[in-house]
Amino acid sequence: MSANQEIILSGIRPTGRLHYGNYFGAVHHFLRLQQEGKRCYYFVADYHALTTITERREVYRQTLDMLRTYVACGLDPLQSVIYRQSDLPSTAELALLLGMITNIGHLERGTTYKDKFAQIQDDPKVAGNPLSYGLLGYPVLMAADILIVKADVVPVGDDQRQHVEMAGDIAQKFNARFGETLQIPRSVARNALRLPGLDGAAKMGKSDNNTLDLLDDEKTVLKKIKGVPTTTDPAPLNTDSNDPNDIVPQMAPGVGVLYRLLHLLAPEEVYLEFVAEYRAQGKFYGKLKQTLAQHVSAFNAPIIERYNDPANGDDAIKDFLRENAKKVTPVALDTVESCREAMGIGRSLHRG
Ligand code: TYM
Repeated sequence: MSANQEIILSGIRPTGRLHYGNYFGAVHHFLRLQQEGKRCYYFVADYHALTTITERREVYRQTLDMLRTYVACGLDPLQSVIYRQSDLPSTAELALLLGMITNIGHLERGTTYKDKFAQIQDDPKVAGNPLSYGLLGYPVLMAADILIVKADVVPVGDDQRQHVEMAGDIAQKFNARFGETLQIPRSVARNALRLPGLDGAAKMGKSDNNTLDLLDDEKTVLKKIKGVPTTTDPAPLNTDSNDPNDIVPQMAPGVGVLYRLLHLLAPEEVYLEFVAEYRAQGKFYGKLKQTLAQHVSAFNAPIIERYNDPANGDDAIKDFLRENAKKVTPVALDTVESCREAMGIGRSLHRG
């Protein structure tokens, strides 16, 4: 690995099983970057999960399960540094330091906080840990995750764009005030994905009960896909393009998600065949759903098999977590120390 190699970092909260939005928005890119031989840091964001998980005894179990899913998808703990966020407690110190220069107004404009705030106005008893200091500070902790390993690239789905921008803003502010210390991450790719939910909602999300999961078996896949709302007949498309970005917005939401998924999973000719069916405005939704369900199940099968492989059990996960925490810790301590120095509380000041 060369010294000036690009550094990649991303994380996923362990709040349930990995769904197709997580996979195609994030993990698919994790795998590509790992394959390109980049220096990759991929973690499970268990600190962040504490803002929403109500059953806290589940956090560790869900963290291990998420790590098993990472491995089952093809992430390799020998090629990528795969770790648990809480195994790097220096992240919390960096978040504290960054918090000193972050305006509350900036945080109040964060989408996650704003959404929860709106929910609470509607229903004050909303589940979880409402309007905590941790929730308001969520983007600061996320900035610390990114900045602590000096990441250049942060592969995430479109919904996390604002958080990555906030990390860049915080780093810029830090550098302007205390001197060049932090690496500024690049903005999220313009074409980052936002996969709609199976109910046709704008986003597939763990808390929305509208996900298609990587560990869903054949029966579940078929049931979920059959349940996608397709009551609207195809209407004429006003474009010759077959690109899902051009045609999906013209479709009824449920139908649109079927085409998005088909485009991600099926060979090009199968996708084009169904676009032609759509243009012909026939009755084919049943066949479309059957075909898509087959492709989803074929995609899930090897992942489920690797997930259940005894070699991918808790002991193996705990072993690589120990090793990988050792690999990321020195980089992290180095960043935190530079920030302490820059802010006037460096350890060197205190020696002797
Ligand atoms: P989380 O756990 O909500 O989601 C994990 C990843 O999946 C992507 N994603 C989607 N992409 C496309 N379409 C969707 N419907 C969809 N749903 C989820 C997310 O964009 C994300 O890439 N705050 C982060 C976790 C985190 C993090 C970080 C990420 C903590 N620190 C530092 C990057 C860098 C989160 O809640 O992701």
